[in-house]
Amino acid sequence: MRRILIVGATSAIAEATARLFAARGDALCLVGRDASRLAAIASDLAVRGAVRTATATLEVTDYAAHADVIALAERELGGLDTVLIAHGTLSDQVECENSVDALRREYDINALSVMALLTPIANRFAQQGFGSIAVISSVAGDRGRMSNYVYGSAKAAVSAFLSGLRQRLQKSGVNVLTIKPGFVDTPMTKDFPKGALWAKPDAIAQGIVKAIDKGRSVVYLPWFWSLIMLIIRNVPEFVFKRVKL
Ligand SMILES: NC(=O)c1ccc[n+]([C@@H]2O[C@H](COP(=O)([O-])OP(=O)(O)OC[C@H]3O[C@@H](n4cnc5c(N)ncnc54)[C@H](OP(=O)(O)O)[C@@H]3O)[C@@H](O)[C@H]2O)c1
Repeated sequence: MRRILIVGATSAIAEATARLFAARGDALCLVGRDASRLAAIASDLAVRGAVRTATATLEVTDYAAHADVIALAERELGGLDTVLIAHGTLSDQVECENSVDALRREYDINALSVMALLTPIANRFAQQGFGSIAVISSVAGDRGRMSNYVYGSAKAAVSAFLSGLRQRLQKSGVNVLTIKPGFVDTPMTKDFPKGALWAKPDAIAQGIVKAIDKGRSVVYLPWFWSLIMLIIRNVPEFVFKRVKL
């Protein structure tokens, strides 16, 4: 049985992942902004088989509240061995081009809050000598594009942070997984026209659980995004800068 903290637990991808954990009898602490949605998800997970559920509210940019939430999760679950960080916002690129406040807010939510949460969690896991850290980054972090480089560069920062953290923690028996989904049909992308490259949260969730169980380092979900991003990363800059993406 895993003892799992999920931050951003009301996210469609996180909820689908939590259902899979619940079905095999794991214990879950759900953290998010909306107390009533968290309570509803927790009851559903209990029905699906979660051995224990707890909830806590957190606005992730309230850095002073992070320590209490992590302590609550440890207390409620009797320890922690797995953390999934899932929160995020798809930044309004044009707004961020015109407002430094908006730019900073998006970095706070998508990058800094993630690193801030991981700092005490990584130290705890290193000290206990085991643990699994999984964070939802994005394929958008693999190369900045004009249509979403604020979001993309925040995710790139998270991916680079996780890469270093992985190296640091591997001797301590702690696994660090970077999850890079492509296009997923969730509330975050509700206004986008959907096509063949789009996946459902349930499919992404299966990939996340499998990657955590296998102790993977980096996973593209669905898998074909690893090929797409291999190509995109290797387009020469003198070509890439002329492409409208
Ligand atoms: N959908 C995609 O195509 C896609 C692709 C690649 C990566 N991702 C990443 O996947 C993760 C999950 O996103 P999703 O697609 O499942 O979207 P989602 O359903 O819209 O979930 C976003 C989550 O982030 C939470 N959140 C946003 N700002 C927050 C804040 N300031 N404090 C606390 N929680 C906050 C939301 O909480 P509320 O419910 O309270 O708003 C919600 O739980 C994100 O990191 C996203 O960047 C998504």
